[in-house]
This record gives sequence, structure tokens and C-alpha cells, in this order.
Amino acid sequence: MATDKKFSKVTFELMETLLEVHNLEEALTGTLEIIVRELDSEAAAIWLLDRKTNRLAPIFHTGPVDISNISIENGIGIEGLVTKTGKSMLVSDAASDPRFDGTVFDDNGLITKTMICVPLYNVSENEVIGCYLIANKNNGSLYNDSELELCEHMAVLAAMTIDEKGFIVNLEEEKEILISLRDVTKEYQTGDTVNQVLKGINLDIYKNEFVVILGESGCGKSTMMNIVGGMDSLTGGKLTIEGTDFSHPTDYQLTKFRREYVGFIFQAYYLMPNLTALENVEFIAELVDNPLSSAEALAKVGLSERAGNYPGQMSGGQQQRVSIARALVKKPKLILADEPTAALDYTTSIEVLRVIEDIVKNKGTTVMMVTHNVEIAKMADRVVKVRNGKIASIKKNLHPLHAEELVW
Ligand SMILES: Nc1ncnc2c1ncn2[C@@H]1O[C@H](COP(=O)(O)OP(=O)(O)O)[C@@H](O)[C@H]1O
Ligand SMILES: [Mg+2]
Repeated sequence: MATDKKFSKVTFELMETLLEVHNLEEALTGTLEIIVRELDSEAAAIWLLDRKTNRLAPIFHTGPVDISNISIENGIGIEGLVTKTGKSMLVSDAASDPRFDGTVFDDNGLITKTMICVPLYNVSENEVIGCYLIANKNNGSLYNDSELELCEHMAVLAAMTIDEKGFIVNLEEEKEILISLRDVTKEYQTGDTVNQVLKGINLDIYKNEFVVILGESGCGKSTMMNIVGGMDSLTGGKLTIEGTDFSHPTDYQLTKFRREYVGFIFQAYYLMPNLTALENVEFIAELVDNPLSSAEALAKVGLSERAGNYPGQMSGGQQQRVSIARALVKKPKLILADEPTAALDYTTSIEVLRVIEDIVKNKGTTVMMVTHNVEIAKMADRVVKVRNGKIASIKKNLHPLHAEELVW
């Protein structure tokens, strides 16, 4: 009975959350977060059915592995079966359950022990549009029937909200992977002690997307970025750049990659004080084949009139924009920005973020940006949360905000 009381409280909290939501994403993620907390679970996902392809894809997930690039045929696997039949399922030993094809689990890399999967109904059409999936209790125990019931309540409530507010399920087309990290680890040895900084990172970065890496100071964000940018080497695992293994590049490959492929933006601007804005950009342009014109790069960050100014004559925000122009002049496929606004006040931060937003909007460049500012993450296409050397969750923003809309 004590459980019942607790669960009615949770159901009430779910309802309150749903009353306040403005879009599909909030309805789904808000309810999922409550359930993961209440059921003390390792991983969870919301899968939605794309009618065009008859495939299910996770539009939001939380947990130790990146499953955002996976889609499965409707009817296959637990998610597929639940979506196809509309019946809830409580599975005790997923990996060896004869009802399911084991290869489906191999795909996502999560060793699923126990799980709950419940369908998500579109009430007015009376059809299943996807499912909720909750996997592995943190304390190792199995899910029970009352927990299954709670998940069913949640799905009904969320589905009603989806229906009432007229949300449309529209999965994006499949994206091309630019960079992929698989089980990437990084250790630092200091004396006799080994400090494991990255503890198995699995992440795909897609072409032309804007990914924000969010996490507390010291969790490994910069280390991860530095590995992606070829500024640091990985201890274990695999890094792939456009399908080519780049886990252990030669010095030549590394130099070429850093020079031609990646534009870096850091918290510190690293501008040469004795060179003008234009000269600072030209200095980098001379190092690469086929650069953008330096004047054009400065124009892109809105600093044409400042071309002749020295760094000391510019504000922090303007200096950071020069450093962005310096990254852009290389026409990089990838821009890595590590806390680019951490040293700036609110107004100049927005000024810099607007430039980054422009870069993303004009396509052709993938931007990966590290921040510990939760508000800034609202601009991203996807938000990757890092906690203690691991990926804690990955969230797709269905409605990214403009820089001007951010408030902190
Ligand atoms: N060169 C290094 N040698 C030893 N430890 C390091 C080195 N670089 C980073 N670390 C450690 O790795 C952890 C993660 O650092 P970092 O990736 O910079 O975190 P974040 O960018 O999230 O603040 C920290 O505990 C830091 O002390
Ligand atoms: Mg850092």
C-alpha cells in the first residue's frame, strides 16, 4: 500500500509536468526524467515510429550509451514488438529472452538485464506511435508489476497530452556521421596513480549539426574535445573521422587534420597582441590550402570595420569574434569551441553565440561546443551531458533556441 501511495504521488507529479509543457519534447523528456528517478534506473529511451520508413528511432534517451543513431524495424526487438502489438512488457532477462533477436541488443551496446517497455498511444487515432523503455535498476533488482503499472500510467498521460496539444511526430531523416567515438578511454598517470578521466565514451557527431557538450567542471569535457580535435591521444577505444580510423594517427596525419579540418575556439582568445584583427586571421590563412579570404572571415563575424584594430583596442567579445574568424578562415569541416563565452559577460556572450549560430545555420560546418552553462545548451541540435568521464544522457532539441532568446 505504501508503494501505491508513492506512485499516486508520482502520477500527480507527471500530470503537473504535462500541464505545463509547450511542446512534444518537453512532454516526453519531462515524464521520462521523473520515471527514471522514481524507478532508480540505469537507462531509458523514448522511441517514436516513423510511418514513412516503418522504423522506430529513439528521440530521447538517457544512460551510459549513445543509441541516438539507431533505428529499428517496427516489430523487431522489445521496442518494436511493443509498438507493433500495443502490449506492455516486463522483461526479466532481456539478453537471453528467446522472444527477441539478440542482435538488436548488440546494436546499442547496453547490456540490458531487466526492462519495462510500454506503448505510447495516439488516443484519437487509436494507434501506437512509439514506446517508452526503462532499463536496468541501479540496485540490480528486477522491475515489478507496480512499476510496470506506473509506466503505463505515464504513457497514457503523455499520449493524451500529445494528442490534446496536437503534437506532430516527425522524425528527422537519417544523418551522416562525421565523427564517431567508441568506448573511448583516457587515463593520465601521475606518479604511481592512474587517473581515469574518460571511462568509455560512445558518441556519434553528425555532419552539419550543432552539438553542445554539457557537464560540471572536471568531468572530462575538454579532454573529450581535445581527443576529437587531435590535440590529445586516447588511451583505449576507437576514434573514426568520416569512416577512417583515426585512433592512432601519425604525426603527419595529425598535423594535417588539425590544420585543414578543425577550427578551434577557446575561452582564451590567443590573439597576437602586435597584429591587427585582419593580420591575426591572415596569419592562420597562410598555413592552409585554399582558405577563405581573411576579410571575408572578418565580415562573417561582423568585424569588417575593426580589421585594422589591435586586440588591445577591442572588447572581449570582439576579440573572441576575431578568434572565430581565425577558425573560419580555414573553412573547417569541424569547429571545436571549448567554453568560448566563459570569460565574457552576458551581452558579449550573446554576441559571440549569435556568430556561432550563423555558422551552424549556413551549413557545411559541424560545431561541437563545450559549456557548463545549461542555458546555452538550449541552442544546440543535440545536448550531450557528461558526468564523471561518462556520457550521462543525450538529448535532441526539437526546438533549438536562437542566441537572443537565451537568458541567464
Ligand atoms: N594533462 C593532464 N594530466 C593529468 N590530469 C589531467 C590532464 N588534463 C586533464 N586532467 C584531469 O582530467 C579531468 C578532466 O579534465 P577536463 O577534461 O579538463 O575537464 P572539464 O573540461 O570537463 O572541466 C580533471 O580531473 C583534470 O584534472
Ligand atoms: Mg574544460
